[in-house]
Amino acid sequence: MQISLTVNGTHHTLDTHPGELLRTALRRLRYFSVKHGDETGESGADAVLLTHTPDQPTSYRLVNSGVMLAAQAGGAAILTVEGLSGPRDDDLHPLQREFVACGAIQCGYCTPAQLLAAKRLLDTNPNPSEAEVREAIAGVLCRCTGYLKPVQAVLRAAAWLRGDEPPTFDLAVLDALDGGEWPTGDGGSDEDRDGIDPLDGPVSGGTDIQTRTRVMPAAVAHPQTAVVNKPEHKVDAVKLSKGRAVFADDMELPGMLYGGLLTSPHAHARILAIDTSRAKALPGVHAVLTYQDVPRVVYASGGQSYPNPPPYDQVSLDNKVRHVGDRVAIVAAETPELLQQALDLIDVTYEALPAVLTPQKALAPGAPIIHDEPDAVSIHDAGRNIAVHIHVEHNDVDRALAEAAHTYTSEYHVQQVQQASIEPHVALSWWDEDDRLVIRTSTQVPFHVRRMVAPLIGLPVRRIRVVKPRIGGGFGGKQEMLIEDLCAHLTIATGRPVRFEYSRAQEFSSARSRHPQTLRYRSGVDAQGKLVGMELEIIADAGAYGTHGLTVQMVSGFRGLSTYWLPSARFVCDVVYTNKPVPGAFRGYGAPQALFGLEQHMEEFALALAVEFKRRNWIKVGQEMPMAEVMGEGREGFAQTIRSSGLEECVQEGAKAIGWERRDDPAWKTDPDRPHIRRGLGLALCMHGTGIAGLDMGAASIKLNDDGSFNLLIGATDLGTGSDTVLAQIAAEALGMDLEHVLVYSSDTDFTPFDTGAYASSTTYISGGAVLKAAEEVQRQITRHAARHLLPGADPDLLWLEGGQVHSPDGRAVSLETVALHSLHQADQHQIMATASHMSYVSPPPFAAQYAEVEVDTITGQVTVQKLVMAVDCGIAINPVTATGQVEGGMVQALGYAVCEEMVYDEAGRLVNPRLGDYRIFAAGEVPELQAILVQTYEPSGPYGAKAIAEIPMDGVAPAVANAIYDATGVRLRQLPFTPERVWNALQAHG
Ligand code: FES
Repeated sequence: MQISLTVNGTHHTLDTHPGELLRTALRRLRYFSVKHGDETGESGADAVLLTHTPDQPTSYRLVNSGVMLAAQAGGAAILTVEGLSGPRDDDLHPLQREFVACGAIQCGYCTPAQLLAAKRLLDTNPNPSEAEVREAIAGVLCRCTGYLKPVQAVLRAAAWLRGDEPPTFDLAVLDALDGGEWPTGDGGSDEDRDGIDPLDGPVSGGTDIQTRTRVMPAAVAHPQTAVVNKPEHKVDAVKLSKGRAVFADDMELPGMLYGGLLTSPHAHARILAIDTSRAKALPGVHAVLTYQDVPRVVYASGGQSYPNPPPYDQVSLDNKVRHVGDRVAIVAAETPELLQQALDLIDVTYEALPAVLTPQKALAPGAPIIHDEPDAVSIHDAGRNIAVHIHVEHNDVDRALAEAAHTYTSEYHVQQVQQASIEPHVALSWWDEDDRLVIRTSTQVPFHVRRMVAPLIGLPVRRIRVVKPRIGGGFGGKQEMLIEDLCAHLTIATGRPVRFEYSRAQEFSSARSRHPQTLRYRSGVDAQGKLVGMELEIIADAGAYGTHGLTVQMVSGFRGLSTYWLPSARFVCDVVYTNKPVPGAFRGYGAPQALFGLEQHMEEFALALAVEFKRRNWIKVGQEMPMAEVMGEGREGFAQTIRSSGLEECVQEGAKAIGWERRDDPAWKTDPDRPHIRRGLGLALCMHGTGIAGLDMGAASIKLNDDGSFNLLIGATDLGTGSDTVLAQIAAEALGMDLEHVLVYSSDTDFTPFDTGAYASSTTYISGGAVLKAAEEVQRQITRHAARHLLPGADPDLLWLEGGQVHSPDGRAVSLETVALHSLHQADQHQIMATASHMSYVSPPPFAAQYAEVEVDTITGQVTVQKLVMAVDCGIAINPVTATGQVEGGMVQALGYAVCEEMVYDEAGRLVNPRLGDYRIFAAGEVPELQAILVQTYEPSGPYGAKAIAEIPMDGVAPAVANAIYDATGVRLRQLPFTPERVWNALQAHG
């Protein structure tokens, strides 16, 4: 059938069929800003504005093009983000301009739909309240930003459009602790700060809005820097605001096939037979592959290091399934509809096996053995379903606890949650003109993918190129070689380009998640309240495969036993197979689990004296982290000493912002008009890592161009965090150039140097270190060439780069353009460029104080978090806007972990909430007031004093909320999430 559509003012006549979705049709017309987030419209990423009466501008409605048939849109006028402004970068709609300026775009996958939702609002309501803005964009889920900056951007754009002066904002960024000596200090020691007041700051603002007007920063640059420590716009923000075709799926290849996965309906079963004949017989189906068709190569899917941490317990396709959602067969077909038909026609005969869904049952004598295959490698005890066993000890814990003045033991449970990035896993693969396989994929680890996929598909690394375009969020879920082997198998089988994507249900059941754990802390103190030893025992649920099982749990042990200084410590852990979907890497990587237990354990131990008890024992500048050396992260560890910490200042600043003294005010804690409501405040301290010591490595290449601009090539992977921008700022600072003249390209295994990838909060610190080294070498080459040829008589060691010029102390200067042209064309001709690598044997921890304010409804058990404040010591913030964006978005993601998110199974091991709506991630109208405070220290080992910030916001919300609930009600909740049912039951049990 034929339909006509007007899209962004252009008329289209389109052949379609009755089942085609409007989203598919629009993308066929190359309106790639229209995204796939799910199949039910709950993500909102597919939203467009549509009307059948285009002569009435206010008649446009926001519709989900992924649940609407193209045929239903026949005759309609549609607006996508491509039509919001002209094609040029400097031609932006006020909404786009403010999204760029406010830092409202992280990964940018939700941005086109958010912009359209905001436009629809402003077209009908030019002066909306904040609540109306939140309501208007509530149908477009964002997993990155926490919505604060997008809401600010809409409010500012509304003011511009009305002709009003938009509100000005400041940014809560504190100067580096050493004041005028930046960057020579180390953040000082706690001993230096004995005079700091206890937690008695004034009540903060008393605002009744959720979005504090503290987003647009005043310039916070330190006088010694021009680009670093400044709120530069993200280098990719404009193209993301315009909805350009930058994501993995935003391209059409001639002859491209649609690839898809048939998954297991059983939690545990053996495949007795697969009949693919009916599927293969369908015209337009080009490949149906099962375990009989692909080589059996055992591997571990976690993209972490070489060699991959054990166990090696997966193959591309197997004759046994170990969880609902496990791989059974793959298909390539000419259309999405044919693909689905073919998947439905595959006839599988299963022998159902008994399944175990909890580690306790999996460990019980006689439990079914999940990995009984003979070729799995390095499983600790397959007969007992133990994937990994860890036992690490520092000094004599038993003796320390036996001699302690007091000991305390407590146990905690954390649930399985999903990363839920709005862009699902998606990959495209094709043969290029040199008979090499290109894989364009949404991954955090392109170099690991290339290395890991090679043996599975039987190609040498040199015949594989992995391209990482923009990524629509990852949060650890894309730190995995997850679908690339399947996509590649189909291209190899068909010779055709293949696009392979997970559905939202497959994201939940066939991708990765966070490890559930049971944690038992036991600790002892001396008579002065100093910790003398601590033991942490963890039983972790690995699900069906052991990927990241060792390393996530090692981080749990390390964070659990290093945040406070311990003379003795022991970590014992079993990572146990079950027949559930597979946990892996998820932002925080073991720390959120450990700190949920630890930050309650410490409070329970000390009760009213908790803050003082923590202060007495938290790790301080100059102290060693003994567990770093004995644990490492799945391999050799290295001795480490704390060299910078702003934890005391974080505690103080956060206390002021949350109004901590209200904890002691009975009148505040109850509400005479609502006597069933109790209010409380909670605190959790956080310490994270900055890369993996001795393991993470990054490299960068910088090249000078004819006009004095630079190409910066990095293997680092920006998954929405702003790392491309931060790395460009580091280069620009060192090269004395503005950000506009540094052109960033990341990452492509053919063209950019190696990088371990985006994980472990390593990019600013490790990849940034490589960028700084490369920039310094380029700087040396420039000054030498200038001194020799263009500034005769000058001492190259006394020249410096600033404002796009090489300066001499005698007042002479020459532009970088002149140096470039001269070096390329005139004398001593050579390309000024450098490549540098960087790794580190230390992982300097960022620190943070996370505060939460809650209301507990004692009748319903509903916990309402009113406000979250996180004060973070991230070293020097290279970009305060992207840094606060990380904190805000991280806190909201962590709030989901605390109060509502959980993967729930029925007795057969089927996930009962594999949709975004049922799983429930926060929408714009549901988040509490957020405040991020950057407490800057100077980390001497980091580029320009930087440490990490990406993961620590995930760590403290759950324990802070738990401690706030206790403060409000006297009830201690040791199991996540704090659903009304769980809280109500605890309140009833408490009496
Ligand atoms: S910026 Fe919204 S999903 Fe990433």
